[in-house]
Amino acid sequence: MEQEEIWKKHTMGLKPEDLFKRIQNPAQFQIELNAMLSQLITENGYKTAIEVGCEAGTSSAMLDKSIEVTLLDLNDDIIKLDQEAYATTYPNFKYCVADMFAMPFENESFDLVFNAGVIEHFDFDDRARAIKEYWRVLKKGGTMVIAFPNHYSLPYRFAYLVRTITKKWIFPPENKMYNLKKELQASGINGLQRTVLSKASIFNWNNYSPLVNNCFKALDKVFNFEGYLTVIWVKKN
Ligand SMILES: C[S@@+](CC[C@H](N)C(=O)[O-])C[C@H]1O[C@@H](n2cnc3c(N)ncnc32)[C@H](O)[C@@H]1O
Repeated sequence: MEQEEIWKKHTMGLKPEDLFKRIQNPAQFQIELNAMLSQLITENGYKTAIEVGCEAGTSSAMLDKSIEVTLLDLNDDIIKLDQEAYATTYPNFKYCVADMFAMPFENESFDLVFNAGVIEHFDFDDRARAIKEYWRVLKKGGTMVIAFPNHYSLPYRFAYLVRTITKKWIFPPENKMYNLKKELQASGINGLQRTVLSKASIFNWNNYSPLVNNCFKALDKVFNFEGYLTVIWVKKN
């Protein structure tokens, strides 16, 4: 199944109230990512942001409403739903159905360009191409933040492999990336920073087996596994 089709299927049947439930009960990684994004916005006085590949826009909806956010996704159904759900409660939102490889914006349009759970589904060349486009629409002084699952954390990697082998992985395939350094270099972008969030979340992914989960929790005492979400960010000078 093509990636576009998988994402459409994944969000089919969602209702506006489901989107608000996600905002009220965010995943741990969303809480921690929100803290990071909010700090960047406050410290730098950012006024505009774009979430590229926003799906339900949960991360954007958790930000302070003083920032104008564009929700962009290739999936027209989800953008329609976002618009329906958020029209009155989020007057700071704008909506855009577009391909992230060719976004319909001028150069240097946004203070903050971010996404989570998007880039890992693309091969090296497409990742480099996407990053180049994110960078193009980022203002000078702005920050690009890209978050993706951490396949360098063994419990997550193990869960991913088990779920793909047993055909229980419901998302498009993911690539194993450490920090996107080479992809950024391909676009002449320097100044990369990396952190890892959401330690607690890695143990949720092996919930198909309490035994496996408990083994990883015990091993963690020795190996201190990294968390679930890798976040890389670069400020444009
Ligand atoms: C995992 S979801 C994002 C989840 C969301 N960021 C969150 O944290 O809840 C990935 C999204 O990327 C979108 N996407 C995939 N390829 C895209 C492209 N080329 N351009 C724009 N959006 C794309 C998909 O339609 C899907 O909604």
